[in-house]
Amino acid sequence: MAFDLSRARRETPGCENVLHFNNAGAALMPHCVLDAVVNHLNLEAQIGGYEAAARAQESVERVYAAAAQLIGCEADEIAIIENATRAWDMAFYAIPFKPGDRILTAISEYASNYIAFLHVAQRTGAIIDVIPNDASGQVSLEALQNSIDDRVKLIAVTHVPTNGGLVNPAAAVGKIARDAGVLYLLDACQSVGQMPIDVNVIGCDMLSATGRKYLRGPRGTGFLYVRRPLIEQLEPPFLDLHAADWVAVNQYQIRSDARRFETWETNYAGKIGLGVAIDYARQWELTAIYARITALARQLRDQLMTLPNVVVQDLGEEQCGIVTFTVADKPSEQIKHTLSLSDINVSVSSLLYARLDMEVRGNLDFVRASVHYYNSEAEVDQFCRTLASIF
Ligand SMILES: Cc1ncc(COP(=O)(O)O)c(C=O)c1O
Repeated sequence: MAFDLSRARRETPGCENVLHFNNAGAALMPHCVLDAVVNHLNLEAQIGGYEAAARAQESVERVYAAAAQLIGCEADEIAIIENATRAWDMAFYAIPFKPGDRILTAISEYASNYIAFLHVAQRTGAIIDVIPNDASGQVSLEALQNSIDDRVKLIAVTHVPTNGGLVNPAAAVGKIARDAGVLYLLDACQSVGQMPIDVNVIGCDMLSATGRKYLRGPRGTGFLYVRRPLIEQLEPPFLDLHAADWVAVNQYQIRSDARRFETWETNYAGKIGLGVAIDYARQWELTAIYARITALARQLRDQLMTLPNVVVQDLGEEQCGIVTFTVADKPSEQIKHTLSLSDINVSVSSLLYARLDMEVRGNLDFVRASVHYYNSEAEVDQFCRTLASIF
């Protein structure tokens, strides 16, 4: 079936104002998400925050089932957390590392995750081992397999890095982790909402995601998945009266579902909006979404490659909707700024977001133009024409 682009654009109010190629930063929300968030905030103002939450209980609960359906797990394996970083942290910092325990990761790892590795390694004596890439630029499965020994405690990789179109072979990594009986934490921040994700196919034990990027949800929302048998083995780094019950003066009992990783106070409007965003994405179907995104990204890369002085920087066998490039002698920030004067949104991926990868490749930054299914072929043309005219 043909993709209904005019419906997608009609249902996305921001399409009238901007040419938005910053979906890997924060995508444009559809009407239904915006309405859900605003309506709940209005209800809070009209009847009180606790009372509004009680009245909206069904929509608040819906987000757990929606996230579970999106990634193929059960609702009690989902915690709703304010962003992907904190979701990832809640899982990572719950793992009890000992001196000499090894953490295997990849060159494309996201900065916040790597900072947490360093933090924990300094505190516990755990060791970080970075697996090299293969010739295509994705994590080398052979090198990963060869690095497995009985000191490996965790494999933690990023599915789609912040700074490029690369899609790491998450399911093949999962097979290695499963065969070795090693914990596997996947940062799926840029892939959830962009492509079909099934935690059973991938074989990860823990997965983190964010709301505002390819899911088109509100800012300040995200979620964590933890495989059920693991939940009770992972003691969250923080506990409150939602994560645990104070059962006697000197005793608490941690809850048995994934909500042990949440806090009591939360953004109810955001949570409702996230549920609506996930249901909306599932209506479009993730296979159709990914097919459209990759086709647009391919068009964008092909057209960029014809422009003088432009070098497309994406790596990997499989490439997604994040398109990165450099323009000779032009700082990426200048390109972003100049495009913004024509109401064109891109972002800049700097060394600070993915240092291992940027250092290996000798780059300080890239321009990141990330497309979504509601972007049009005409916008890709307009983008390349504008770029060509200004540089
Ligand atoms: C690969 C990757 N992981 C994690 C994050 C952090 O997500 P959040 O800002 O929701 O914490 C980002 C954000 O850009 C990202 O690109």
